Amino acid sequence: MTDLLRGLSIFLVGMMGTGKTTVGQILAKQLNYRFFDTDVLIERVTQQSISEIFAEQGEDEFRDIESQILMQVCAYTKSVVATGGGSVIHRMNWSYLRHGLVIWLDVPINVLIERLSTDITRPLLQESDLKHKLETLMEQRRSLYAEADLHISIENAQTPEEIVNQIVTTLPTVILPKIESYLDFSAEN
Ligand code: S3P
Repeated sequence: MTDLLRGLSIFLVGMMGTGKTTVGQILAKQLNYRFFDTDVLIERVTQQSISEIFAEQGEDEFRDIESQILMQVCAYTKSVVATGGGSVIHRMNWSYLRHGLVIWLDVPINVLIERLSTDITRPLLQESDLKHKLETLMEQRRSLYAEADLHISIENAQTPEEIVNQIVTTLPTVILPKIESYLDFSAEN
């Protein structure tokens, strides 16, 4: 698989609570890739928690920082990147995500509700009606996530290792067209 990828990075996108970090870490290990989590990088660079950034500077400022971090990580090859759930919103970010293969981890909303009902780290979810909030965000983002190169639908009972296997077995179907389009692009420019 690593040969087939030829160093192409992988960006995991999807809603909060889909397991991008856990799955990404296992996938990176399996591919012998480095692993980045954009939220962790944002916290490290700003020396603030995501909640503090939202509270003190607002979501727009958070999105700007998120874009800068994506711009920096996309310069690396051989990386698996767990992105924040909202990184698909800004069109500009897609120019960074497109440096690699974009994989959408798609988990049903009812499972996300179970996973996130006691979460206090995600500022967008600190509302009384979690179901409504998640549904609204999903409605706004579904068509953006769907622009990913690969759509992985996840069942509740699947372990992170099973999800990684699912990714690894499906990847070849999307890698070859992607590499071909890269080569065409390089030839034209
Ligand atoms: C967000 C997702 C979070 C984090 C921030 C905003 C979003 O990341 O970036 O709380 O807008 O969906 P995770 O998807 O890793 O939870």
